[in-house]
Amino acid sequence: MAFQQRVFSGVQPTGNLHLGNYLGAIQRFVALQDSYDCLYCVVDMHAITVWQDPAELKKQIREVTAAFIAAGIDPAKHIVFNQSQVSGHAELAWVFNCVARLGWLNRMTQFKEKAGKDRENASVGLYAYPNLMAADILLYRATHVPVGEDQKQHLELARDIAQKFNNDFGPSMTALGLEGTFFPQPEPLIGGPAARVMSLRDGSKKMSKSDPSDLSRINLTDDADTVASKIRKAKTDPEPLPSEAEGLKGRPEAENLVGIYAALADISKEKVLAEFGGGQFSTFKAALVDLSVAKLGPVGSEMKRLVSEPSHIDAILRDGAARARVIADETMRQVKDIVGFVR
Ligand code: TRP
Repeated sequence: MAFQQRVFSGVQPTGNLHLGNYLGAIQRFVALQDSYDCLYCVVDMHAITVWQDPAELKKQIREVTAAFIAAGIDPAKHIVFNQSQVSGHAELAWVFNCVARLGWLNRMTQFKEKAGKDRENASVGLYAYPNLMAADILLYRATHVPVGEDQKQHLELARDIAQKFNNDFGPSMTALGLEGTFFPQPEPLIGGPAARVMSLRDGSKKMSKSDPSDLSRINLTDDADTVASKIRKAKTDPEPLPSEAEGLKGRPEAENLVGIYAALADISKEKVLAEFGGGQFSTFKAALVDLSVAKLGPVGSEMKRLVSEPSHIDAILRDGAARARVIADETMRQVKDIVGFVR
């Protein structure tokens, strides 16, 4: 690793990966490899904040790892690992449980959504989830975090935790000769033409693994025929495509499909509309099918090949964890000294 700034991001091993995960996260992770030192983590400890079948969890951890590698993340140049293999995540999360305030966590909208009405029955882990996420990032003193819009609030919490830790333990750091700020303020990297990929059946809902209709999403392991039929059946409106991006306002389904095309082709929405504007959806959809199959087909088949060799994937994860641990252990040694633990 040779860059100055460090990227950390995590993907939960829960449910099948779909186009939203690919365009919103994985494809961006791939691009960041040229400019940052990157750690890409399969966050299995976050996954168990809601019930996971153990055999299924193992399978999903390997599947996310396979998707990272199939998409083009290089586990030799960067670090790919699963969270539970590096004990520093849990250790730092505990310290952060004691830094973050109840009032801060009570404001987290994702907890409210995920816990639903039966809040008494949510796990304590689900409530403390954002503290573990802050630990993930700050354990490596990562400076940049590619995340979706929905994780922005969690990242703000990570910044608050970093700042409170730096303030609370300022004198202790000075006494140890650790001048300045120990934890950086991690910056979110949000954006791209498909920062939010929406359901193919309803342009107002996010594409999601939990949508009961499989037609609402394109799974990374869908075969070409399935991808084609899902795109052909995708909801649209009766108007032709607009010639300018402005014309996509109030047309969420059109906006979503144009955004998907732009992200897959790595061009702007304007450029997509310069080509397809004024035309019928059927023409555009046919081109979108070809592009999707060309881009996703090789990723899906490489994923399938990789998961058929679990021992190879497990070796990659162990190697990544060993390299992550070198950074994590150094942070934890310093954190223990700063907090006042004897080691
Ligand atoms: N909470 C993130 C999500 O559900 C996953 C995650 C866990 C993460 N730890 C992280 C993302 C650290 C970025 C950085 O998408």
